[in-house]
Amino acid sequence: MTTPASYHPADPESVFTYGAPQLKFGHGAADEIGYDLSLTGARRVLVVTDPGVAATGNPQRVAEQMGQFGIEAHVFDGSHVEPTDESLQRAIDHARESGPWDAYVAVGGGSSIDTAKAINLLTTNPGELMDYINVPVGGGKDPVDPLKPLIAVPTTTGTGSESTTICVMDVLSLKVKTGISHARLRPTLAVIDPSLTLTQPAGVTAAAGMDILCHALESYTARPYTSYERKRPEQRVPYCGSNPIADMWSEKALSLLAESFRTAVHHGDDEDARGMMALAATFAGMGFGNAGVHIPHANAYPIAGRVKDFHPKDYPADEPMVPHGMSVALTAPEAFRFTFDASPERHRRAALLLAPGAQEPDDPAELLPSVLIALMRDIDIPDGVGAVGYTESDIPDLVDGTMKQQRLLATAPKPVTEDDIAGIYQRSLSLW
Ligand SMILES: NC(=O)c1ccc[n+]([C@@H]2O[C@H](COP(=O)([O-])OP(=O)(O)OC[C@H]3O[C@@H](n4cnc5c(N)ncnc54)[C@H](O)[C@@H]3O)[C@@H](O)[C@H]2O)c1
Ligand SMILES: [Zn+2]
Repeated sequence: MTTPASYHPADPESVFTYGAPQLKFGHGAADEIGYDLSLTGARRVLVVTDPGVAATGNPQRVAEQMGQFGIEAHVFDGSHVEPTDESLQRAIDHARESGPWDAYVAVGGGSSIDTAKAINLLTTNPGELMDYINVPVGGGKDPVDPLKPLIAVPTTTGTGSESTTICVMDVLSLKVKTGISHARLRPTLAVIDPSLTLTQPAGVTAAAGMDILCHALESYTARPYTSYERKRPEQRVPYCGSNPIADMWSEKALSLLAESFRTAVHHGDDEDARGMMALAATFAGMGFGNAGVHIPHANAYPIAGRVKDFHPKDYPADEPMVPHGMSVALTAPEAFRFTFDASPERHRRAALLLAPGAQEPDDPAELLPSVLIALMRDIDIPDGVGAVGYTESDIPDLVDGTMKQQRLLATAPKPVTEDDIAGIYQRSLSLW
């Protein structure tokens, strides 16, 4: 792989890693969860979901089917849409009080899956949530004991959380989004059944789909693994930079999105489009879960964490929020305009995978931003950070929030300064 000119490792890394859970994919896959769990010897299982997904009846159906295998299953529908430290604590308290549990099954989007990861960690390991949250917000402690089996069953087509090692949350008192990241958090089995995703409202399909797209684009353009200093074995982290295996998943995810994204948003009952979106989410998860993401995700954290009064269509109306995928998308066109010169050919190739046959503008740096903006307009994503309530005077605060995400910025294909991020926000106030 070519190392971008901006990085000069003295002793370049020559090793990359790849991790993924066991996976079952396809229509009807969710009907086999009772059998899959019976193989683990589980007798008492907690099914974790949120109220919106519970209203589809799917979590209850998954729970009932376990009865045939002599498994007692309970449904907890208290996951918060976009978990907070407080919502996770309530979920952990519930699981501790009603436990012990032999295994967990998460049925829902990233919010329910991440809630189940936190429950699993804190019912099997000593200490409290803050001990495990990434530094500098938390203690960054590693789990010492093995976790219980966790089956993740996504009902959105987005996060890829069913195959990743992270749990994302808002820490309310600090107004920051952060997470817990450790290989042991990865679900033991991902069960991806596209039929569970058909009821996703259009607004959720659009925002979650932008998450897939940015996972693929950011991991494809991430700093290559060879541009890091060589690590010792005990220093290896799940995110190792772009590499040939992650690239393959990201490229394929982009082609699937090209075929299915607009249709899935505008014709939610199109089973073929839903199936392709589910595959795309899985593929992008396998890519970014190993390569990492960078500037759009680093910006997404303060954009979501400092929300004022924005209420997106098709999400719970009780609290203001900028959904994860939407918050990632809003600065993506500008972020890729900024990173273009680190790897022009990758940016061009990604744009053409997403929009085969797109007209190539005179300035090649404009191709990916223009393809992204055309898509965002078609699926009704708001026009920049201005459209979700931010003004120029908020930029210093947003920049400050982004600069705290050093773990993500370290994966950017070139070094990023505060001024660079301020410029990206400034030009993202309105995108079209
Ligand atoms: N752990 C990871 O690897 C990872 C990666 C990216 C994002 N995330 C996190 O995941 C969360 C976002 O998850 P998400 O985008 O999957 O959405 P979500 O879980 O927040 O759900 C969004 C909304 O859609 C509803 N919903 C979900 N599936 C539905 C269905 N099939 N039918 C009807 N309604 C449905 C939910 O009730 C909710 O109101 C954020 O907290 C984000 O930070 C985690
Ligand atoms: Zn994401």
